[in-house]
Amino acid sequence: MAKTIIISNRLPLTIQKKDGTFSYSESAGGLATGLGSIYKTNNMLWVGWPGINLKTDTERIALKIELLKENLFPIFLTDKDIENYYVGFSNKTIWPIYHYFTQYASFHHDLWLSYKKVNRIFCDEIVKLYKPGDIIWVHDYQQLMLSSYLRQKLPQATIGFFQHIPFPSYEVFRSIPWREEILKGYLGADLIGFHTYDDTRHFFSCLKRVLGIENNLGKIEYEQRTIHVDAFPMGIDFEKFNTSASEQDTTAKVLEYKASLGDRKIILSIDRLDYSKGIPQRLMAYESFLEKYPEYHSKIILVQLTVPSRYDVSHYRNLKIEIDELVGRINGKFGKINWMPIHYIFRAIPFTHLSALYAISDVALITPIRDGMNLVSKEYVATRHLNTGVLILSEMTGAAKELVEAIIVNPNDKEALIASLKKALSMSKEEQKKRMTSMRNTIRAYNVHNWLEIFMGRLAYTKELQKEKASKFISSKNNEHILKTYKKAEKRLILLDYDGTLMPFFNNPYDAQPDKELCSILDLLTADDKNQVVIISGRDKNTLTNFMDDFKVDLVAEHGIWYRKGIAEWKLSGQQTESWKKEIMPFLKMYVARTPGTFIEEKDYSLVWHFRKTDSEFGEMRASELMANLNYLTSQMNLQLLEGNKVVEIKDSKVNKGKVADLWLEENYDFVVAIGDDRTDEDMFKILPKWGHSIKVGHQETSAKYCVANYQDVRELLLTFIKSIE
Ligand code: UDP
Ligand code: G6P
Repeated sequence: MAKTIIISNRLPLTIQKKDGTFSYSESAGGLATGLGSIYKTNNMLWVGWPGINLKTDTERIALKIELLKENLFPIFLTDKDIENYYVGFSNKTIWPIYHYFTQYASFHHDLWLSYKKVNRIFCDEIVKLYKPGDIIWVHDYQQLMLSSYLRQKLPQATIGFFQHIPFPSYEVFRSIPWREEILKGYLGADLIGFHTYDDTRHFFSCLKRVLGIENNLGKIEYEQRTIHVDAFPMGIDFEKFNTSASEQDTTAKVLEYKASLGDRKIILSIDRLDYSKGIPQRLMAYESFLEKYPEYHSKIILVQLTVPSRYDVSHYRNLKIEIDELVGRINGKFGKINWMPIHYIFRAIPFTHLSALYAISDVALITPIRDGMNLVSKEYVATRHLNTGVLILSEMTGAAKELVEAIIVNPNDKEALIASLKKALSMSKEEQKKRMTSMRNTIRAYNVHNWLEIFMGRLAYTKELQKEKASKFISSKNNEHILKTYKKAEKRLILLDYDGTLMPFFNNPYDAQPDKELCSILDLLTADDKNQVVIISGRDKNTLTNFMDDFKVDLVAEHGIWYRKGIAEWKLSGQQTESWKKEIMPFLKMYVARTPGTFIEEKDYSLVWHFRKTDSEFGEMRASELMANLNYLTSQMNLQLLEGNKVVEIKDSKVNKGKVADLWLEENYDFVVAIGDDRTDEDMFKILPKWGHSIKVGHQETSAKYCVANYQDVRELLLTFIKSIE
């Protein structure tokens, strides 16, 4: 039976060894708790580091056997690997950068090499565990290269990737020296998931700016694979928390806690020890609250539960010192013999204790400076089965996008934090119930099981889409069906677009003269009397004449406005006018003036604004603006606005490549092929007879029957035509 292989840096259980026997504790963090609820019941094998370095093979084998009983598979790493890959690159480079703590980030080549080495170790183990049909699901920032390593070794595998932390904006991401390689690392996956839409839009922006890869409605075409990128806000096991509050163990703990904390309002904060969680800022706001509202002294208690984390990183150690000092200072300043304003716990606690804390707390104060999702806030809501309690939630968490009925605060705004505490402590039960009921409905509906189902559904859909696309792809090696008709034919029509189809794109369009290889292909193709080759382009007629005069080809210029058969004169297709240019030109000039690197190309009956040489996002924004500006005007003037490859073109709306192709198609050809790469070529594809062969260059949506990857593949294909006759 096919399985799902979950891979994360850390297994959900951390192993210790005492007196020759292993003991287990639950690993810290949302990834472990979130996935922990689903992996056992869904035929999943979880692969990761067990948190211990065992020296002998005997010990390793013994632990492996133990863990396999729990569907866990350990990957053992040396102390040095952990120091460089985990403490180092993962937590001193990626974590701070991805959480916008650039001042904490360090960049060391050795750490990067170690990171890649460990990702390769994971890859090798997974390849051994993998069986065809299995799904591979890679998790989080410690394994950013893994998907691409797996793709190299298992090209057909189904690979999903999910990131549990934010994806930063390009302005921050660009500071990583290995940014290109890291981004390509993600692209080994078929589906890439983040918690929020903001993360996906930052990811797309980096793809475009760093690698020049565009997305189309969340789809990327990369190395002949369609990859989906989307937001999948992670949920929790709602029922587990919902029912826990009424279970006996929890209620016993609730009574115990209430007895020792007294009849006071409880404010609860739970975080891993992490600078991204905003603990000092929160404590200072609490201190100011107590100063501002002395009437709350003795009436409230802040329970700050901090779970130890990443103690080998100095910033975490320093944070611990800072928190210790703050708690000491605040308790010292306001505490009385019978009241301490802060109850501080620095360790992980068992589940029943945790749910009892959620159950007794009147307010949850969750104020990270940055957090991918933040599951603690969702767990608090799920535990509040009586619909009371108030959630104060930082707007910098992924959860804030869903829990909109919480009191949402900016964690850097001390005054807002103080006001939110005041509001929470004075909120009527009625208001609490209204807000909590609504939040609980959200958390119940978007639970972790639902998250799993949606992610896996999208992954399966992506694979289907890839299969569908792959069946359209042809190359010089699998084009027998086209070759058969080519060989048999007595009169062949070969319609070829020029830029992007026969030649690559250049920053300066005039640099795209045919090179030696193309010249030879055109000579060979046209040497066969049965062939009629038509170069059907958007170029102006002079450039096209200049590029193509040496060849026995027919020409179409300006997307069909001009055509030339053989050595005859250029002819206009229909009546054309250029009087409209004087109205449109000032607009284009204004856009050139406002957008450095762009320029206007003037053809006889069309105008083109080129933006290939400007920043890609900026260019696109301006292009949309220009199109929006011209839309009304052009429709009044029977003009058409074409958005091509980094160009906006304005021309007569009656003419297109399809209409002009008809001038050839009405003759009696028994073989027709049309090859093109952009949207204007779709008109030509649509007009072909049913038995004709339409071929799209690239992966974008198309009405063509077949696809090839790039202009080189087009050339290969044409060469196989030529060779088939020899
Ligand atoms: N948690 C825990 N034991 C504790 C305190 C917290 O297991 O003593 C869990 C908590 O239930 C939550 C996770 O730790 O599921 C923290 O996840 P969150 O997404 O809030 O933050 P992360 O630590 O992943 O940054
Ligand atoms: C966050 C990360 C997880 C990580 C967890 C605990 O939740 O997203 O990938 O496992 O923190 O951190 P640790 O360094 O102890 O594994």
